Amino acid sequence: MTSVSPVTQKVYNNAQDFMPLNGTDYLELYVSNAKQAAHYYKSAFGFQSLAYRGLETGSRDTESYVVVQDKIRLVLTSPLRSGTAVGQHIDKHGDGVKVTALWVDDATYAYEEAMKRGATHYMSPTIEEDKDGKVVRSGIYTYGEVVHIFVERKDYNGTFLPGFIKWETRYNPAPIGLKFVDHMVGNVNLGKMDYWVDFYAKVMGFTQIMSFDDNDISTEYSALMSKVMSNGNGRIKFPINESAPGKRKSQVDEYLEFYEGEGVQHIAVATDNIIETVTMLRDRGVEFLQVPSSYYDELTERVGQIEEDIEALRPLGILVDRDEEGYLLQIFTKTVQARPTMFFEIIQRKGARSFGKGNFKALFEALEREQELRGNL
Ligand code: FE2
Repeated sequence: MTSVSPVTQKVYNNAQDFMPLNGTDYLELYVSNAKQAAHYYKSAFGFQSLAYRGLETGSRDTESYVVVQDKIRLVLTSPLRSGTAVGQHIDKHGDGVKVTALWVDDATYAYEEAMKRGATHYMSPTIEEDKDGKVVRSGIYTYGEVVHIFVERKDYNGTFLPGFIKWETRYNPAPIGLKFVDHMVGNVNLGKMDYWVDFYAKVMGFTQIMSFDDNDISTEYSALMSKVMSNGNGRIKFPINESAPGKRKSQVDEYLEFYEGEGVQHIAVATDNIIETVTMLRDRGVEFLQVPSSYYDELTERVGQIEEDIEALRPLGILVDRDEEGYLLQIFTKTVQARPTMFFEIIQRKGARSFGKGNFKALFEALEREQELRGNL
């Protein structure tokens, strides 16, 4: 056996969490026009220009723009010619999340542990270097064509990753207070939720922290089930959704039909001031799901006293829920690309560590009104 680094040795000794993850490193979206998507995430969502890779840096097949806001990095990648893997992915799925990159201390170890436990290979541990140091990356598949890439960057001081140059622009709209990825939800095929729950438990050492069945998440028409998987330190949370029998097509069914497979349904991003953040998002043209005004008439009775003025939440459509530990405020955007697939959630936690179960009915009815307008209910 080859010798291992002190970091790896520490991990071996800590059998409880064989896959220590420091956080989300980046999310890579395959999109049909990365240059324009980058502009959208800057102007509408307050991201800042960070890095670029394309023809000018010697990348002949694909072009990527990287934007950043606090701890959130989005990589927007498009093909530069026909016949690329990126292009084929876009042709099948439309724009969507391809990579959820996870920041680790040892990408070789993470890959080997995952493979030993039954993961499907995507990328063997690979060292990438430039004048700013080296990064090791490796990767495995999760549901659909989505992959997890393990990123080890302790020996790197560059802007983003080797191969990228700093992207400087004159147009730098102000950030809107997005902090980090709170959770990321996957929609999987009928009958596959428990399969992927087992995958995260067995292959990545996650534990199930919550589950919702069709009694929690059903409207008059459709239903779904969800289980929330979390890594050891709670920084990575992946709810997995599956349809449950209902009278009509559920939001998960619509997603699977239009994404043409399993994939990332929404990315929840945290803010410390949801009223300010959502006000700015709306001013910049981001559209949100709307619940009926009657939701706010019953709010205090349901969640008790909160610090925010309910009359400030009502026109913005921000939802509130409470659990044993505190409360949370949340809102969902409409889908953000041509197909009715991926969207964002904005979330502010005030003690609560749950996911807004008390809002599911109002929210899913709002979603279904959109589905109905699209002829997909
Ligand atoms: Fe969510």
